[in-house]
Amino acid sequence: MIISVNNVNKLGFIDLEIDPKLDLTQVIKKLKVEKNAIILAHYYQNPEIQDIADFVGDSLALSQKTVDINADIIVFAGVKFMAETAKILSPSKKVLLPDINAGCSLADSCKFEDFKLFIAKYPNHQVITYVNTTAEIKSLSDICCTSSNAIKIVNSLPINQGIVFAPDKNLGNYIKCITGRKNMVIWDGACHVHEEFSLEAILKLKRDNPKAKLIAHPECKKPILLISDFIGSTAELLNFSIKDDCNTYIVATESGIIHQMKKENPNKVFISPAPKASNCGCSECVFMKMITLKKIYLTLKYELPEIVLAKELMDRARLPIQKMLEISK
Ligand code: 13P
Ligand code: SF4
Repeated sequence: MIISVNNVNKLGFIDLEIDPKLDLTQVIKKLKVEKNAIILAHYYQNPEIQDIADFVGDSLALSQKTVDINADIIVFAGVKFMAETAKILSPSKKVLLPDINAGCSLADSCKFEDFKLFIAKYPNHQVITYVNTTAEIKSLSDICCTSSNAIKIVNSLPINQGIVFAPDKNLGNYIKCITGRKNMVIWDGACHVHEEFSLEAILKLKRDNPKAKLIAHPECKKPILLISDFIGSTAELLNFSIKDDCNTYIVATESGIIHQMKKENPNKVFISPAPKASNCGCSECVFMKMITLKKIYLTLKYELPEIVLAKELMDRARLPIQKMLEISK
């Protein structure tokens, strides 16, 4: 098969047979050096991908890292909005996403035309968008935020300032409650992974493990947040698991983070609650899990698929991201 930009664009990833005996970890390491490439991975990636990455982090740390990266190529082991953010912050670098279909149900819940009409109804409001959005949505925003810094970003605005917060309604309502904002309008979007956690299943896990602490990502629904012992971004949940002295944790976020939790705390127990619609015993983001070692290898080899965005769009979308990074320092 001939690899061309067109057929990769059609499929979204490179579909080639490889020698099953190939040691993917070794060839990826070699290609990284040859091409002066670096692999950034989100905590929700599969363990073997986290282990070959040069840097693993949450959305905020990954975007901060992008700014001062010394490499020609960034391979993003994450989802499209993260790779777009990397491209926007480092436009001169080649940013590769091993599967362009690695989207995000939360970003998909906020479409450009709908959002434009929505914010037009609130002309005096500041528009704060979670980074889990397309570059087009960022171009309509005043400031971006992540789950790590959302409270700080909202608190950076005067208390009576009207705010539009998008796209995650669970995170938005949580932040509204914590910051005591009265004038905050929240977009009705959600992430399929965090929406799917079953309160009943979590209550049963708590009954079966009475000493366990429930730690949750703020994208979870309110009833789950209300019974949580700690709420935070993936990085904050990881740090809590290190500093806290409990032995068992019920982890209400994507199960990929448990890899780092176990690495940091080999003697502790981490339980991933099953989502409502599944009996697989874990909660996985289908988009995050589209990235595989094989796709990373082929992406590095052929330098495709690449994130390409119009300069004007990047220039506009960069402003709210830079504002966020400035406030987060
Ligand atoms: P973090 O901000 O914790 O990295 O979360 C990213 C994400 O996709 C949550 O679903
Ligand atoms: Fe998007 Fe949810 Fe997957 Fe995060 S876990 S990338 S918010 S779909």
